[in-house]
Amino acid sequence: MLDALLNASNYTVVFTGAGMSTESGLPDFRSSKGLWKQKDPSQIASTDALNNDVQAFIEFYRERVIGVKEFKPHKGHEILAKWERQGRMKSIITQNVDGFHQQAGSKRVAELHGTLQKLHCQACGKVYSSEEYVNNAYYCDCGGVLRPSIVLFGESLPEDAFEMALTESERAELFIVLGSSLTVTPANNFPLIAKENGAKLVIVNQEPTDFNRFADLVIQNKKIGELLQELDVKLG
Ligand code: APR
Repeated sequence: MLDALLNASNYTVVFTGAGMSTESGLPDFRSSKGLWKQKDPSQIASTDALNNDVQAFIEFYRERVIGVKEFKPHKGHEILAKWERQGRMKSIITQNVDGFHQQAGSKRVAELHGTLQKLHCQACGKVYSSEEYVNNAYYCDCGGVLRPSIVLFGESLPEDAFEMALTESERAELFIVLGSSLTVTPANNFPLIAKENGAKLVIVNQEPTDFNRFADLVIQNKKIGELLQELDVKLG
């Protein structure tokens, strides 16, 4: 079924969440072993935390920065990059901040929530590599604190990524969600925007989402990596 939809579509867009990277070894947020099962995101992934408890903030994000450097993209990421090269899909809209899609070779990627691969100064905006955190360097030359270039709760999404996600969602003939609970706005609007513009909507997720009722196809009983490898063999 999904192979037939892929073959029939001239403009396929893939939308990924943390479930795309669990098979690389990174935790997701809301499944039973998710990050937000141990920590309250509003207490740690927010500008309040950055401003009022900078030590706890840095400790939490240093661990995540090291995590994305220790782990790497899996076969599923590589297949999506190959499909882009083959023209089977046009772009990826991702909520993930691990940079794994680009590391696997994907070129057209909208990072809605930014990236852990870079830091910037909260005061002057100067950009640094996230290696600074690995080397326990937390402050800018100007004295401001360095923070990951991700979107914290309460912050707005990067304009360019948002615009690209909107255009891609409006153009999609097939919109495939891979590994997201679709609980965070405004990211979770894009599957509906695609659907409203005539796309077929497919949701691949191990747990049900509130958007399943809008989907043309829901795949819940397969891990993403396994599914993408099976599809890649079928598509030849
Ligand atoms: N295959 C299929 N589904 C999977 C897999 C897998 N291998 N691993 C995990 N999942 C599913 C989980 O069941 C879960 O429903 O992926 C989903 C991930 O959902 P979340 O943990 O909520 O992650 P996500 O939707 O990406 O969160 C969105 O929330 O905290 C913010 O900024 C953060 O970008 C993140 C946003």
